[in-house]
Amino acid sequence: MVGVSVLVFNDGKVLLVRRGHEPRKGRWSLPGGVVELGETVRDAARREIREECHIEIEIERTLDVLDRIFKDPDGRVQYHYVLIVLLARYKSGELRADSDIEAAEWADVHDLARYDLPDEQQQLIAQVQMPLYSSEAAKTLAQRERTDARRAQRIHLVVERLGQAQSLLDIGCGSGEYLRAAAQHGIPRLAGIDESPERLQQAQANCPHAELHLARAEKLPFADQSFDVVLAAQVLHEIALFGQPGDLEKTLSEIRRVLKHGGRLIALDHLDPGPERVRVHLPQRARAQFDYFVQRYQLREITFEECSDGTLWLSRRDLQDFVTKIWALGTAIEDLEMRETHCPFDREKLEALLSKAQLTLREWLTFEEIAEDLAEHGIALLEGTSWPRKFLLVAQAL
Ligand SMILES: C[S@@+](CC[C@H](N)C(=O)[O-])C[C@H]1O[C@@H](n2cnc3c(N)ncnc32)[C@H](O)[C@@H]1O
Repeated sequence: MVGVSVLVFNDGKVLLVRRGHEPRKGRWSLPGGVVELGETVRDAARREIREECHIEIEIERTLDVLDRIFKDPDGRVQYHYVLIVLLARYKSGELRADSDIEAAEWADVHDLARYDLPDEQQQLIAQVQMPLYSSEAAKTLAQRERTDARRAQRIHLVVERLGQAQSLLDIGCGSGEYLRAAAQHGIPRLAGIDESPERLQQAQANCPHAELHLARAEKLPFADQSFDVVLAAQVLHEIALFGQPGDLEKTLSEIRRVLKHGGRLIALDHLDPGPERVRVHLPQRARAQFDYFVQRYQLREITFEECSDGTLWLSRRDLQDFVTKIWALGTAIEDLEMRETHCPFDREKLEALLSKAQLTLREWLTFEEIAEDLAEHGIALLEGTSWPRKFLLVAQAL
């Protein structure tokens, strides 16, 4: 029998079911079932999960093919399944076990021992890291990057600082636009890593001669002292927000390890504007988007005060997250953006992290006035002043 087994991830948790039928009745397992005649493997996966657990999933890719052969005490084959294992992410719906299974749970991947899963399933879960961006989200992000008017300036700021570097590693290289600019600058050895296969494909197209690896920033696949420059453009905040605790520290220590003596880290990311409150006027469209954002944003509660003239008092942080995420509302990347913040770092926090990794801050630049983003959406800043929403830093390995 051809079966399908699905590894469904949801925010660091994995979907497990307690089986309602033989084989392994009453034991925990990845969900799945038999592929029906005329049905594709992917359709079978979506149907089984819908029927057993009442949720919808988005399939990422095929992970493995497993043989499950069960014999009776006399050695005769009782069941023989060829199981195609797919990786998927949770999309929608409330988890509820159907009568066909005894229970369904979102299990913490660090606490699987109590589920007594078959060995291959346990190993598979331990090996898989779900990339942050789904295929759809990676496409949406690439499109946004292509149309973001301020990207050219960011790339220019980085290129200006490359000097005579002979080698560069771009961490979280995404669509490879910085690598392409570094190639045009004349850097002979270029490398990039990203945890998303889709994003690496985009990078391959943009910078064909770069050495690209599917890898995570916390474990860089390079020897000690390999690069003159390491670039981390808008990736440190994702590692801090979506990685395991300690991943940001590990990343900085890995960067330090692969940098040559005297080599430099160039990091560019979002800046925390602090909790100060400002008063704004939102035109009708922006106001509707704001109300939607307040409902959808999951990382913290967005609090605001409405004055009798319809203007709003709110924190700089909330305004920055709102106005810099308007583009993502209603797109394939909305869910992800609603779980992250564009106010992750201030200078003090970064300096402490850098010094722990034995990197010395050499340059600190803040740029991209929030006023420009506000103007783009017709939002007037009535009380309070504009602030820069990005930083660029250069730190040296000594
Ligand atoms: C916002 S994008 C920035 C891409 C690129 N640096 C740029 O500025 O155009 C962040 C990228 O980092 C990647 N990423 C996030 N966390 C990562 C991790 N822990 N290891 C490797 N890549 C990661 C994502 O897949 C994504 O492509």
